[in-house]
This record gives sequence, C-alpha cells and structure tokens, in this order.
Amino acid sequence: MAFEKSILCIGAGYVGGPTMAMIARKCPQYRVTVVDTNPKRIAAWNSDTLPIYEPGLDEIVKGARGRNLFFSTRIDAAIQEADVIFVSVNTPTKTFGAGAGMAADLQYWEKTARQIREASQSPKIIVEKSTLPVKTALAMERILTATANGVRFDILSNPEFMAEGTGIKDLESPDRVLIGSRETPDGIRARGELVKIYANWVPRERIITSNIWSSELSKLVSNAFLAQRISSINAISSLCEKTEANITEVARAVGMDSRLGDKFLNASIGFGGSCFKKDILNLVYLCRQYGLDEVADYWDGVVRINDYQKERFVLNMLRAMFNTLAGKRICLFGFAFKANTGDTRESPAIYVSRRLLEERAELVITDPRALANAGVDLADTKGEIAFVEDPCEAAAGCDAIAVMTEWGIYATLDFKKIYETMRKPAFIFDGRNILDHQNLFRIGFNVFPVGKPPLTHF
Ligand SMILES: NC(=O)c1ccc[n+]([C@@H]2O[C@H](COP(=O)([O-])OP(=O)(O)OC[C@H]3O[C@@H](n4cnc5c(N)ncnc54)[C@H](O)[C@@H]3O)[C@@H](O)[C@H]2O)c1
Repeated sequence: MAFEKSILCIGAGYVGGPTMAMIARKCPQYRVTVVDTNPKRIAAWNSDTLPIYEPGLDEIVKGARGRNLFFSTRIDAAIQEADVIFVSVNTPTKTFGAGAGMAADLQYWEKTARQIREASQSPKIIVEKSTLPVKTALAMERILTATANGVRFDILSNPEFMAEGTGIKDLESPDRVLIGSRETPDGIRARGELVKIYANWVPRERIITSNIWSSELSKLVSNAFLAQRISSINAISSLCEKTEANITEVARAVGMDSRLGDKFLNASIGFGGSCFKKDILNLVYLCRQYGLDEVADYWDGVVRINDYQKERFVLNMLRAMFNTLAGKRICLFGFAFKANTGDTRESPAIYVSRRLLEERAELVITDPRALANAGVDLADTKGEIAFVEDPCEAAAGCDAIAVMTEWGIYATLDFKKIYETMRKPAFIFDGRNILDHQNLFRIGFNVFPVGKPPLTHF
C-alpha cells in the first residue's frame, strides 16, 4: 500500500513509543517509524514484552505494528524517507560543566539535529516533541541550515502533555494539542501540516497554535504549575500535622472553590517522575540566565518543598519508631513514581530507600510493575534489600509498612492478616493517604498519614 505521508520519530522512549503508536492507530494512511540508538529498546518494541508499561499500550502497538507502525535502528534511512520528523530524545538535567544540576542537557538533541541535516535529501518538517528550554528552536534552525545543501527545514514545537499512567487516554483524548511555529508564511504552512495530522482524531478546537517560543515555554510552565500545586498542598500538610487540622478536609474545602478546582490536591510524600523536577530546574536556570533572580527563587521553592516533604516523611518515621531504625525491617509498598507505570525516575521511593538504608534499616520492596527498575536504582547502595512481588509476603516479619505509590491494590489488601504476620508494635506510614486509617488503627496498627493526626496506641 502507498502511504500518504511518512512520519518518523527519533527516540523510542516513554513519549516517542506511545505518541507514535497513537498516530499509527488513528491514521492508517500514514507510515509511522520510530527509531532509536538503543537496539535493545527497539528489539523490545518489536517483541511481546514492550519496554514500558502503560495501560492500553500493548493493544495499540500490536494492532498497528507491521501494518503502518515500524520500530527500527536504521536512523539515516528513516530520515531520508520521512516527510515529518518528531524528535523525542531525552533532555535530562545536565550533570557536568556550566549549569550542572539545573540546565537541560541538550547533547542528544543536538546530535539528532546534526544527523537529520547530514541524512536529509528532501524538505522536512521537524517537530520538537522533547521538552526544551525556550529558544531551542533557534539553535535547531542554525544547526540545520549551517551547511548549504539546499534542503528546506521547517521547525515546529509540539510539546507532549501526556502523563504516564494515563498516557493512552491522554493521547486519545487530549485536553489540548499545542503547535508552535514561526509566524512566517512557511512556518504557518508547516504548522497547518501538523494540524492536519492531529485533526484525524482530535477535535479542531482542541488543537491550538501559537508562536514557537510560547509553545516551548508553555510546556515548562505547565509542568511548573502542576508541581507547584503539589508542593502547595504538601507545604500545608506539614502545618496540618502541627495543628491537628486534617489535610483532606482542608483540600476538600479549598478545592470546592470553582476558581481553584479539586485536582492535584492530594497531599503525599512528594512528586517524582522524569519531568517535574528537571523542567522546573530548567525554568529556574533560564530565569537566572535572563537576570530574573526573584522569579527563579520563586520556582526553586517548589523543588525545595518537594525535597523537604520527602525528608520530613523519613524523619517522621524515625521519630515514630523510637528514634532508631537500625535493624528494623521496613516494607515499601510501591516503588514507581506513580501508579500504573513501571517508571521509577525521580521516584520519592528512591530517596526514602536511601535514607532508610543510611539509618541502617532493612528494606523489603514490593511493586506490581517496578521491581526491575527498583533493583537498578538501588544497585549502588549498601545494606539489606529484598524485592518481593506479593505485598502480603513482603510485609511479613516487618516492623513497618510505608506506602510510596498509590497502586489501587494496596487499599484492597487484607490488613488484618498482614498485621498478624508483622512484628509488634506494627506501624503504617501512608505516604499517599490511600488506606482506611481508622480501620488500620482498629486492627492494631499505629498509623501515620500525611497531613493528619496520627492514630497511635501509645
Ligand atoms: N516521560 C514523560 O512522561 C514525558 C512527558 C512529556 C514530555 N516528555 C519529554 O519528552 C522527552 C523524552 O522523554 P522520555 O521519557 O520519552 O525519555 P526516554 O529516555 O524514555 O526516551 C528517549 C529515547 O531517546 C533515545 N535517544 C537519545 N539520543 C538519541 C539519538 N541521537 N538518536 C536516536 N535516539 C536517541 C534514547 O535511547 C531513549 O530511548 C524529554 O524531553 C521529556 O522531558 C516526557
């Protein structure tokens, strides 16, 4: 079959894989190829065990793969064939040199730009899908046009707003699709091409367009606002713990104000994931570069509160368990940074595990999807760690359970049975406020929620 258009995505990760699978599903008239430098990742995308877990993803990939969806390591050949190239490579926080620990590391991004330039023989639309500092498109344009080989490139910004765990739903029915371009006739024409692709399934009024810098910045700001909501409620949770106010009651009262809304108001151990911290630090770095120190300090506070919340959780555990954790066995319920994903990048569970090991506690870690990643994340630590799939088995013989991830199954467990198998006094630290605390207390547990008075038997 002759395809209408050839679409390529460079970077077969958490964003590249699912977004392209969705385009392939919704647009059988296009040929969609996803390439990556990592042959293991590509082999996994071509196998029965996909490299990432995302509810609903398997079915979509299996339905389109080999029909109009292809995963490959032949990057140059794929670039040559493509009309539209999405770039979805990783843009982690820089760990070296100027801006270390703050700025985005753009080395993968730049390599890709050079490779596109070298391999291209026909005009292409290049789409920034990765999250990037505002003004990156300018650098991209300069790299792509640095040699006069006569090939025309139009650069668009199309940041991805999907959230892991609900990725397929978000891609199928996005709140909005944002496409930024240069406001020249060529830029507007290229933008129209990308609008046409999304219009295959996204209602036209949800596809919004803007200038390219607004688009790049909107993604950083969107993540900064989401993380700010979490840090705001978490900051108040610490005040609740001092004053016997209850954070769930406060959040309910606040969230019923229609100007504020009730989403993202669950107090917890803090946010994780590969994006929030990295994107805020990137925003902070940009502000400092432009001499906006007050603005930088404001956003930096969001990350500082998140760090504080994780440390506070550990100190609460230490204090509650008689100021020593040495030799105590603590079971972590969940390791993924959120439910319905196996992704553990920047998961609060990593920080908590390391701190508990420093206190010489022994750890038993359980998670329905993230045990393999947990093993990698803690590979360099000293101390005793067991990884156990079944949460009831994991908790047996432990002094405490600490809920790290809001997996639905944890609320449905038989805690009476679990209590019987644990050392006494038995503790539960609910870092996600998902359990029935009164019931746990009645069973015999000493219960420590976030932002609520603890329920203790002493
Ligand atoms: N994960 C999310 O939920 C999410 C959501 C929105 C936006 N983003 C942004 O999307 C981008 C990608 O994130 P991710 O989570 O998919 O990252 P990821 O690490 O899962 O995937 C990136 C992939 O790019 C590949 N890669 C790197 N350099 C390459 C090159 N030169 N050629 C070909 N492949 C190359 C890597 O091997 C890797 O497989 C980041 O900028 C991120 O901030 C992520």
